[in-house]
Amino acid sequence: PDIDSLVNIYDFEFLASQILTKQAWSYYSSAADDEVTHRENHAAYHRIFFKPRILVNVKEVDTSTTMLGEKVGVPFYVSATALCKLGNPKEGEKDIARGCGESDVKPVQMISTLASCSLQEIVEAAPSKEQIQWFQLYVNSDRKITEDLIKNVEKLGLKAIFVTVDAPSLGNREKDAKVKFTNSNGAKAMEKSKVKESKGASRALSSFIDPALNWDDIIEFKKKTKLPIVIKGVQCVEDVLKAAEIGVAGVVLSNHGGRQLDFSRAPIEVLAETMPVLREKKLDDKIEIFIDGGVRRGTDILKALCLGAKGVGLGRPFLYSNSCYGKEGVKKAIELLKDELEMSMRLLGVTSIDQLSEKYLDLSTIHGR
Ligand code: FNR
Repeated sequence: PDIDSLVNIYDFEFLASQILTKQAWSYYSSAADDEVTHRENHAAYHRIFFKPRILVNVKEVDTSTTMLGEKVGVPFYVSATALCKLGNPKEGEKDIARGCGESDVKPVQMISTLASCSLQEIVEAAPSKEQIQWFQLYVNSDRKITEDLIKNVEKLGLKAIFVTVDAPSLGNREKDAKVKFTNSNGAKAMEKSKVKESKGASRALSSFIDPALNWDDIIEFKKKTKLPIVIKGVQCVEDVLKAAEIGVAGVVLSNHGGRQLDFSRAPIEVLAETMPVLREKKLDDKIEIFIDGGVRRGTDILKALCLGAKGVGLGRPFLYSNSCYGKEGVKKAIELLKDELEMSMRLLGVTSIDQLSEKYLDLSTIHGR
């Protein structure tokens, strides 16, 4: 269909379910076990209600903010997803770079260790000097490989390293496991890992990830790079405090889009629980809190920002939009989210991101409070 007929993020998902290969759809859409966390990630946003303020001059609305010290046009970013070529065989992650760079607001793109294009290709595809790319790191059991990777990330000018810590072992994604991983579009990513067996894309790709990774390693990485380090996949306030203590730049409250431990809690509720503790300990200025999982609407983004998130990531929505329409799809998804965000800010009675706070939410229905 004509891309202009798509009105929201769900439209991309439906279209992707109709046109993707069985392998791509199974890999992208799957989540762990009974997929309870996957559904809950999204459903938890539905329990949160606004307290809009009236008669505020909202003629001009500004969605820009900062993340990790850099100015960005919107408070949402494209989260790292492996194997973008399964859905967009020719251009893969390069089209995400183009879509982000060609849009007015230029959201940040986080690039996966398991991207299906090389890091250099994705960086070179980025059309705008102002656009920002981050690197998502899966730590290899062979630390030399990881150290070389970090050097390459620095050389190519990426702005931060997000170390994913929620995948010491791969989640049980049954939809994906039923489809053998044979597609040559995974070749680039497979070079980076040692393929052990052919039980779905996830399992084929993940065998190099070091299950021995621990806090000491993060402290070591901090010494080895000047780039900000962010821990991706934090799921409770205790670990946020620990991350703040060792002095990383940020954490992502995330359960990997429900693809790892089923019955992990929704990140939005972990956020609701975390921020008061950080404020009480005066750590809220020391560490930036990001969040992802189940974000599909401008209002979802707004709720996370009201609760104190600095940036909000989306995974599947960009996989689907990139698969259906390439870079034009990515641009369209960005535009839809940005328009929803602007409209919701107006209706809430705010004109800039820094005005958002808990006072705009009815906290009584949020678990974790
Ligand atoms: C992911 N995610 C992910 N995370 C990561 O750190 N490295 C990776 O390589 C991948 N790969 C990946 C593939 C696919 C197909 C999906 C759906 C997700 C997790 C991702 O960064 C993010 O945490 C979730 O996707 C957020 O949830 P939503 O927005 O998909 O609901």
